[in-house]
Amino acid sequence: MNIHLISLPINFPGKKSIVYAFATLFLLTQSCTTPERDVFQKHSISRKGMVVTAHYLATQVGLDILQQGGNAVDAAIAVQFALAVVFPRAGNIGGGGFLVYRNSEGLVQSLDFREKAPSDAYRDMFLSDSTESVMESGLAVGIPGTVAGMWEMYHSLKPNLAFGDLLQPAIELAREGFAITEAEAERLNKFKQLFQDNNDYPIPFVKETKWVTGDLLRQTELANMLERIADEGADAFYKGGNAIYLTQAVRNLSGIIRIQDLSSYKPIWRDAVSSTYKKYTIHSMAPPSSGGLTLIQILKMIEPFSLEMNAWDSAYNIHLVVEASKRAFANRATFLGDPDFVAIDQNKLLSTAFLTNQMLEYNPNFASDVKAIDRNLPAASPKEHYETTHFSIVDAAGNAVAITTTLNSNYGSGIFVKEGGYFLNNQMDDFSMAPGVPNQYGLVGAEANAIEGNKRMLSSMSPTIIEEDGALFMVLGAPGGPTIISSVLLVFLNVAEFELPLAEAVANRRFHHQYLPDEIVVEDMDWNPEVLKSLEERGHKIRKITSMGAIAAIRVLQDKTLEGAADPRDESHAQGL
Ligand code: DON
Repeated sequence: MNIHLISLPINFPGKKSIVYAFATLFLLTQSCTTPERDVFQKHSISRKGMVVTAHYLATQVGLDILQQGGNAVDAAIAVQFALAVVFPRAGNIGGGGFLVYRNSEGLVQSLDFREKAPSDAYRDMFLSDSTESVMESGLAVGIPGTVAGMWEMYHSLKPNLAFGDLLQPAIELAREGFAITEAEAERLNKFKQLFQDNNDYPIPFVKETKWVTGDLLRQTELANMLERIADEGADAFYKGGNAIYLTQAVRNLSGIIRIQDLSSYKPIWRDAVSSTYKKYTIHSMAPPSSGGLTLIQILKMIEPFSLEMNAWDSAYNIHLVVEASKRAFANRATFLGDPDFVAIDQNKLLSTAFLTNQMLEYNPNFASDVKAIDRNLPAASPKEHYETTHFSIVDAAGNAVAITTTLNSNYGSGIFVKEGGYFLNNQMDDFSMAPGVPNQYGLVGAEANAIEGNKRMLSSMSPTIIEEDGALFMVLGAPGGPTIISSVLLVFLNVAEFELPLAEAVANRRFHHQYLPDEIVVEDMDWNPEVLKSLEERGHKIRKITSMGAIAAIRVLQDKTLEGAADPRDESHAQGL
């Protein structure tokens, strides 16, 4: 048994500059995969390539691929598969996600590999059940999109390496095992009951004794599954044995997925939603994610107003952003859904006339009554969620990848396909269960996001690439359900408007308003009490939560140096080549 001494940089968010205190963590490992170097590195500078992911081993995989001559696309595919191994709560092959890509020549493309509803799904299928029981049943599982998404990316975006080579690091990590982090050990212990309830066979995530930091996690069936994908491509997942096993696992728990639902799954190239904010061009994910449109609506609503400079956290600025957010989230709930099923007038929703009109009633001194923008939709309190994961990669040539990927909840539905070694998502929760009934994030939706067979559920994931005067400027995204949108927005504003260094912009305390419930959610950090008081005097309700979002960001500095920042809120890791 080896004992490795690992120094752990700890950030204290919300200070003017980031303070790194070095705590010491002893990882007891039996594995050669635990590196003798810093884990959880939050900041990095490089000219040759940058990778920021939720797990240091996934970041290392991305860097290794770049080192071997891969480009950002190669690295991203390898990272996605590596996260499925080392970050099983959100990294996945049983879920889905979105890619926003900008190549070194400035061409922007985006790929929707979001799950879709089973063909037998229907509008009122969840009405008689409680949200909780549904989310852990086979009915919650959408048709996974990740493997098809990676396969499509590989065949369309000019990678340099062989597809199979991109899966090798993930295969090795799964077969040899890796030492789990403290947070992973805690999570696996916490979710043991769900794993046992949903799987009446041994799975690698359940053991008799408690998991502890440094325990080796080996996933042999996953290694075999990844090997089949490496050899045969996406068909290894969507056809043959795996399609049968997946379907059985879901149907054993009241699910309705059919084998044909898998063989007919297709990722879809969509135009990114792109618009300007001052000298910046924002490219983000279009429907079926609400991320891009909502983010850009908020920015365009605040653009005509002057933010108070040198005071990113003034009550005036927060009030303005909150008022714009309320309106944009109301639009989200009313108008957005899968564009292949509902007509979305994107030009109108981003038009100056529409957005100016929405801010007509804006008053810098008073919170607007949500009833004035009321769409008659009740909502529960949003809970805190960190289960999704985002990674950002830029290579030496300037190709940039932003991918957000998820199983929805931690470890998705908890349903484990034992022959394939992976968890299945519970993404069906992102549909409006019934128009007006809130989902687990307290989000409401209307007809546009009602359930239909083969339809994609509305998402908040916001992989985002930003240009400054036409040149690559930032690549970022986050987990956090609807708070993803606020996290991306605030980090961008912190950098672009308030000129904060990237690491500080990422670490800063955040706030969020999603129209319903009518409250500002703030991270419970060192806010100036006068600012909160001033917001309350304007008529806002404020609720404190522990933490919001976890940004993985890359910024291109004036001299083309790449600066990576991983969020101090989680175990994410930024490293340059
Ligand atoms: O697609 C969505 O918006 C959600 N399923 C994402 C879930 C999420 O971000 C959970 N937590 N971090």
